[in-house]
Amino acid sequence: MAGMGERPLIVVSGATGAVGRHVAALLEGRAQVRLLVRDVGKARALGLTGEIVAADYADRPLLDKAMTGADAVFVVTANPLRPEHDENLLAAARLGGVRHAVKISWLGVADPGADDLIARWNRDSERLLHTSGLDWTVLRMRSPMSNTLAWAPAIRQEGVVRALGGDARTACVDPRDVAAVAVRALTRPGHEGRTYALTGPEPLSPREQTRVLSRVLQRPLRFEELTLNQALDGWRRKLPEPVAHALAEAAARRGAVAAAHPEDTVAAVTGRTARTFATWAGDHTAYFR
Ligand SMILES: NC(=O)c1ccc[n+]([C@@H]2O[C@H](COP(=O)([O-])OP(=O)(O)OC[C@H]3O[C@@H](n4cnc5c(N)ncnc54)[C@H](OP(=O)(O)O)[C@@H]3O)[C@@H](O)[C@H]2O)c1
Repeated sequence: MAGMGERPLIVVSGATGAVGRHVAALLEGRAQVRLLVRDVGKARALGLTGEIVAADYADRPLLDKAMTGADAVFVVTANPLRPEHDENLLAAARLGGVRHAVKISWLGVADPGADDLIARWNRDSERLLHTSGLDWTVLRMRSPMSNTLAWAPAIRQEGVVRALGGDARTACVDPRDVAAVAVRALTRPGHEGRTYALTGPEPLSPREQTRVLSRVLQRPLRFEELTLNQALDGWRRKLPEPVAHALAEAAARRGAVAAAHPEDTVAAVTGRTARTFATWAGDHTAYFR
């Protein structure tokens, strides 16, 4: 643990993920950073530098080692069928002397009617954190804007976006803004025991996002609405059946819930207004060209 005047040691789990990679970059120079990844090659390819430790969330002995002497941890887990990943990370953190855990969750859990596998898993993970014995901060985020990277191959090859719920608006958030909030919580006092709702500044539908991308890329793009069954088929090709089914359940509820409501938490915590989708798209054109 950091002594007086020393920089704190912060463990960043999921450092190759949508938010984690930006947490890692923002912490550079502000703290001693230990990046927890399962694929060191992927981490290096993303440009991550510094202390990189390979550990799967299933591997308690490696996690115990990685947490030793750390002051704070950024927690991201990604598999709703493996709730033990959160248990392992938090138990290792506690054993290693970590004081504060900052965890990514999903803003959908605030919808009392959401009862799919992913909502239940995130709620259970939040409860586990509350009872972990660590100080905690929960960052409940709306869909990261980076989810639209899944559209990139069809945009590049066919000039088309295929998505579900063309007119269902979501206040999607720039993962860099979520990371900026995480870094505040990890490095400054006053965020313990807080649950933050993190969104972007404006509600946007997939059809509207397509128009923004078309403007930014300066090429016409066509939007094709997928049926729920077509979307489910796509998820089934990539994900285990229960997870694909949970995504379909969550999608079916979209429109029924206020996912479009923008919150001002990013600005309140970081002092900077949340980035728009146009800004995110403008900074990521290389992926779509
Ligand atoms: N994606 C969304 O639309 C969305 C929306 C709102 C909230 N959320 C919430 O955000 C959280 C993260 O979800 P995500 O899937 O979007 O994350 P993500 O950005 O894909 O990041 C997941 C990170 O965890 C790492 N990881 C996964 N399994 C691991 C394991 N067994 N051992 C070690 N590292 C492992 C991944 O490593 P690799 O790079 O090696 O895979 C990656 O770095 C979840 O709580 C989710 O509910 C997601």
